[in-house]
Amino acid sequence: MKFYLDSAKLDEIREAYETFGIDGITTNPRHIQSSGKPFLTAIGDIADWIGKEGLEGKEVFPVSVEINPHLDTPEEMTAAAREISSISPNFVIKIPCTPAGVTACRLLEKEGIRTNLTLVFSVSQALWAGRAGAYFVSPFIGWKEDGGEDCRGYIRDIVTAYKNYGWYGRTQIIAAAVRSPKQIADCAVAGTDIVTAGLAVFKEARNHAYTAQGIQIFTDAWDNTVK
Ligand code: E4P
Repeated sequence: MKFYLDSAKLDEIREAYETFGIDGITTNPRHIQSSGKPFLTAIGDIADWIGKEGLEGKEVFPVSVEINPHLDTPEEMTAAAREISSISPNFVIKIPCTPAGVTACRLLEKEGIRTNLTLVFSVSQALWAGRAGAYFVSPFIGWKEDGGEDCRGYIRDIVTAYKNYGWYGRTQIIAAAVRSPKQIADCAVAGTDIVTAGLAVFKEARNHAYTAQGIQIFTDAWDNTVK
């Protein structure tokens, strides 16, 4: 399972890439807002960083960039997607999974512009992404689990449905809005292609209280061994 960083902040992107090696990036309007930069500057800076790291190329290091959420017709969405995708071959255009978004996705994929149908909250919506030939589909996990749902069945059902129709791997499943190490593990067990999460979640996922406790126990033993 690939790990994508959900962020538009260059310092976080650099840190994650250098310390544990991310495979791609996802952004959304909220991440652009927290970067403190205008939209085109934020995504342009990410494109420049990709160039400096030698990650430029269509399949190499995808960066999912979301269109203006005000756009609600396929025509407006496809026009915005063409403009954004011309900035970097790494950009995959994130479009909300609405009827207009599904149509836009279908048109863009036919043109060779890769799309990510986002804000997916049901297996039924994920089926539309598969039928439209999206490059990515982003079922949100955290938002549902924050509301009290257990998402294990939901992710497993999307994986199973995609396997049933040969879409598994072609439309890659990004488990999105992942908030905890347990959710990362659940996604891996279910077989999602990618998990995207914030830097803090990945940092937490490398730790366990018993590991720290075990180091302390072994340090004490080391220090008290007969010299
Ligand atoms: C995923 O691609 C989204 O950017 C993201 O996970 C949205 O949710 P969050 O910002 O609440 O984590």
